Formats: sequence, structure tokens, C-alpha cells
Amino acid sequence: VTMSVLFTPITLPAPEGPGLVLRNRAIVAPMCQYVIDAEDGVPRDWHLQHLGSFAAGGFGMVTTEATGVEARGRISPRDVGLYDDEQQRAHERLVTFLHSQGAAAAVQLAHAGGKASTFPWLPGQPDGTVPAADGGWSTVSAVDGPVLPGLSAAAGLSREGIAEVVAAFAAAARRADAAGYDAIQLHGAHGYLIHQFLSPLTNTRTDEYGGDEEGRTRLAREVAAAVRAVWPAHKPLGIRISATDWVDGGWDVPASARLIRRLAEEHGVTWVDVSSGGLGGGAAIPVGPGYQVPLAAELTRQLAGTPVVVSAVGLVEEALQAETILATGQAHAVSIGRAALRDPHWATSAAARLGIDRTELPRPPQYWRAGW
Ligand code: FNR
Repeated sequence: VTMSVLFTPITLPAPEGPGLVLRNRAIVAPMCQYVIDAEDGVPRDWHLQHLGSFAAGGFGMVTTEATGVEARGRISPRDVGLYDDEQQRAHERLVTFLHSQGAAAAVQLAHAGGKASTFPWLPGQPDGTVPAADGGWSTVSAVDGPVLPGLSAAAGLSREGIAEVVAAFAAAARRADAAGYDAIQLHGAHGYLIHQFLSPLTNTRTDEYGGDEEGRTRLAREVAAAVRAVWPAHKPLGIRISATDWVDGGWDVPASARLIRRLAEEHGVTWVDVSSGGLGGGAAIPVGPGYQVPLAAELTRQLAGTPVVVSAVGLVEEALQAETILATGQAHAVSIGRAALRDPHWATSAAARLGIDRTELPRPPQYWRAGW
């Protein structure tokens, strides 16, 4: 019998009940597609085949791309959302298919804040702000001004505006439940709205939503509380964070550990996906194989004794690499992004490489002759 930690099931605990059991510890990372042929935030056939192939490809859980909790919270006009009935129905169709292939379904609920209304990484299109004539909109953030050089100025949210954002997260969480999602991942990373409030680089507010760590973490804590209050107690709530801004004086790993511990103790958060960066243009990020794994390892160490499941992400591409990260206790699970784009069946391939018996490979029965 081959022992593989990667292919040992894992439970994401929930406040009530047994929690969510994943068939293995390979999770698909959220990846925006920006390809929909309409700008109504409705997931299309593309999303069904894109996410569906990962579920057929053996992953334990598939995370949707950043999904706007309100229209102005989308990164680009082509992002999906979860704030109206038509979007909800399309999400339900997605989730039903993911489940049919044995994968759990997580939705990444997101608000891009001052990094909204931008078109990143589109072929033939420079990074930057979407003009109003092309469907762009004005953005909001912690304070007035551009979040990064080159972006147009965001408007600092009033307290009433913050309350509306929190309510939008809760409303999207209700829709996520109705659509059948098993888990929510709050997008607290990559310089989007929640991170804009967490980081001293972008949050220079002087009211109770800024200043010290208590103030800067308030939005994240209010969002988690509001979502947890409407999200069924038997379903896990997670968050993706940038564990460091990679900038002196920015958000850092000790602050991340304190935040996650508090979210776990006070708001029932049981899963953290550990990414980094997204603010402070010009940050020196040591990109390379597994470059964010040390951040996950430090959080795993500091969160020992809590129910929080830690997933590592970032250039985790090889089966043996993923297995080693888990077997050495640096994280409890791995999130896979680009390697899954190249091979949607990454998880099945990894299982075969790690010596899982052919009869136990996570693959659709109709692929029995594929030769893994
Ligand atoms: C991403 N990433 C990302 N992250 C996120 O939190 N929400 C998102 O919607 C997206 N969108 C997205 C689209 C595409 C095409 C890529 C390649 C990446 C980041 C992604 O989830 C992951 O953290 C990084 O890609 C690093 O992991 P890999 O790709 O090295 O495994």
C-alpha cells in the first residue's frame, strides 16, 4: 500500500457537524478567466468546462475565480458575480457538475475595491484601468487616491459604504449556499478591498476602520462575522490572505497569524489559503518554486492547536513537491493554479505518480483506458 498524504482525505471543520471531507488535499486555486462574452457576471459554458475539467481531473476541491459580491467589486467587467438570480442559477449548474465528479466546490467571494475596473493580463490589452466608455466604473477603497501607481483614484468608503460592502458579502454568501457551494473562501489577498484595509500601505484611515491592527482588521472581521452568520453552520468558511506585502512597514506574517487566530476563535474561520503580495508596487518578491510555502509553514506552526486548515500555494507544480510539503508538515493542503491550467487532470496524474493504485485513482470511469 502506497502512503500519500496528498491523497489522504482531509476535513475542513465547521462550527457544527462533521465538517467538509475532501477526497484529497489538492485544491484548485481561484483563477479569473476574463473571457465571458457578456458583462453581466454570469458564469458561462466556458466556466463549466474549465472548472468541470478540474473536478473530472481528480482534485479534492475546486475554487471558483474571484466572484464579485457586487458589480463594482469585480476586477473587470468580464468577471463573474454572485449578486443576482441569473448568476446564482449559473453557479448552481456549475456546482452540480463539480459534485457529480466527486469534487467539493468552493466559491471565492471577492471585492476588488480600488483595484476594480481594471483589465489585467489580457492579450493585446495593456494592464490598466477600463475607461467608462468600455464599461469601466469608479472605485472605492480605504482612503481617497490610487491603490497602486497607474490606477485611477478610488474614493474612500464612508462607514455607511463599509456597511453596504459587508452586507453585500453576506448576501452573496446566502446565494452561495442556495447554489450549493460547500465552502466559501473570502478574498483577503492580492491587494483587493479586504487587503487594502488590512495593509498599512493603503489604509491610512484615522477612524475605527484604520490606524492600529485592531482598526485595519475590522473590515475583515466584520465580513467574516456577517458571512458566518448567514452561512450554514455545517459548512466551512475560509479566507485567502496575502501573508506579507514583501515591503518594510507593510502587512506581515505575524499580523497574519494574529488575524487568522482571531478569525478562527471569534468567527469560526477554519481554512486559510496562504498567498502574498498585491500592494506596494515594486515589492521584491522572491518568485521561484514553492516560494510562498515558508509563509504557509510559519502560519501552520503558529496556528497549531486551532482547527484551521492551512493550504500552501504558489508554484507548487510537481506531485513529489506537493507530497513533500504536506509530509513535512509545512501545510495541510496545497492549492494548484497554473499547473492545473496546463493539465486539468493534474491531480489524477499526481496520484498515479505517487503510486496510488490504479483502481483508486480519482478519475471518471469513462477514462479507464487513459493509461495512468
Ligand atoms: C490567478 N490568481 C488569482 N488569485 C485569486 O485569489 N483570485 C483570482 O481570481 C485569481 N485569478 C488568477 C487568474 C490566473 C489566470 C492566474 C494564473 C492566477 C492567482 C492564483 O490563484 C495563484 O495564487 C497563483 O497563480 C500562484 O499559484 P500557481 O499558479 O503558481 O499554482
